[in-house]
Amino acid sequence: MTKLKILVIGSGGREHTLVWKLAQSKRVEKIYCAPGNVGMTPLAELVPLKVEDIGEIVRFCQKERIDLVVVGPELPLTLGLVDALEEVGVKAFGPNKQAAELEGSKVFAKDLMTRYRIPTARYEVFNEVQPARDFAREISGPWVVKADGLAAGKGVLICSTLAETEQAIEKILVEKAFGAAGEKVIIEEFLVGEELSLMAFCDGKTVVPMVSAQDHKRVFAGDKGPNTGGMGAYSPAPVATPELCHIVLEQILQPTVQAMAKEGRTFKGVLYAGLMITEQGPRVLEYNVRFGDPETQVILPRLKSDLVEILLAVCTGELEKWAKELGALSAINSKKMWQEEACATVVMASRGYPGTYRTGFEIKGLTEVPKEVLVFHSGTAKQEGKIVTAGGRVLAVTALGGNLRQAVDTAYRGVAKINFTGAHYREDIAYRAFRRC
Ligand code: AMP
Ligand code: GLY
Repeated sequence: MTKLKILVIGSGGREHTLVWKLAQSKRVEKIYCAPGNVGMTPLAELVPLKVEDIGEIVRFCQKERIDLVVVGPELPLTLGLVDALEEVGVKAFGPNKQAAELEGSKVFAKDLMTRYRIPTARYEVFNEVQPARDFAREISGPWVVKADGLAAGKGVLICSTLAETEQAIEKILVEKAFGAAGEKVIIEEFLVGEELSLMAFCDGKTVVPMVSAQDHKRVFAGDKGPNTGGMGAYSPAPVATPELCHIVLEQILQPTVQAMAKEGRTFKGVLYAGLMITEQGPRVLEYNVRFGDPETQVILPRLKSDLVEILLAVCTGELEKWAKELGALSAINSKKMWQEEACATVVMASRGYPGTYRTGFEIKGLTEVPKEVLVFHSGTAKQEGKIVTAGGRVLAVTALGGNLRQAVDTAYRGVAKINFTGAHYREDIAYRAFRRC
């Protein structure tokens, strides 16, 4: 069995989790992470390259003879990192530039869904203010206004009045608050329901779904305050019954991959469907073309299979063969692939996040967490021998458990041991699941 040198691209909790899971594989010789974070250093060598430095990353892979690159964040995917690596014969996990449009342009994604009858909210696209305003007046609120391109999770504005809606349109189209990402604006129907994330491994033809997860986007308990990258997550999400997962697989995930193939944009990598489960059924809110953060922190600990084998099968177009050998083809939550244990993660963030915040505070107690707690680092650094805060989201404190309650309790026991100046976390992770009990 040949052992591989693997390079992970990115620096957050998602990438730490990827490194941790990859390190368990018998197929791994060495793991690098660019730029990575200090939490990964026992498992991976950090490479000081920016995720958008495509040329430098390609040169590093050639020099070090990297066998497989695993791309975490969306930016390098939309910039064509996978294309550049494949051009020089380096295997890369993730969609190419054309396929990454599914996340890079919401207009592209919405038009694709319309053309292929994939369920999503009704919408219109505008590049001028007046027609956008006129349309908003014609429909009833609340109004959902979205910038077309990548806006670091900030490009969606939910407005409860027409005045707010008009301001949102101006902010995107005139003030260019999101730069070129705001050349077009989408106004769409407001959907009511529970949100759910379903991700799947895809090799362009075959779709192997992952277990479900729900994240917590608002910064404060009870879903109050502004949206963040995600303040915690848990898996499985009770809203994702096996019947619902089948519907999502058959009406959304598989049709999306088939549609992309028909459009000549073969989709390989992780397809992430951000869904609203409405009374009329699941509707796509957004696609992402990569692992979610912090969903990855609760999904990969539940994966029994060797992650390297799955990623290679995706890259070589052999996912169907891999799943058949495992006996998990088209099975939802196959017990051969996934552990039944639940998993929860609590994000510890810097006070002020997602607005401005200070960094450089020493993180204490990391060695005191119970041994069954997994601490994935997001925004941390090493300064004068100490681990300090270096970002908005600092740590994802994670635990498996016989049931969701146990997983959540163990994760919070970990959180209780850790402290840094201004530490903020939500105390209600998984509350929707508990409310259903
Ligand atoms: P997105 O980045 O498109 O997922 O949007 C960010 C968040 O805005 C979602 O997680 C939802 O909470 C909310 N959202 C987006 N689109 C809609 C919609 N059509 N109706 C209701 N909420 C929405
Ligand atoms: N948790 C949402 C995302 O990864 O975009």
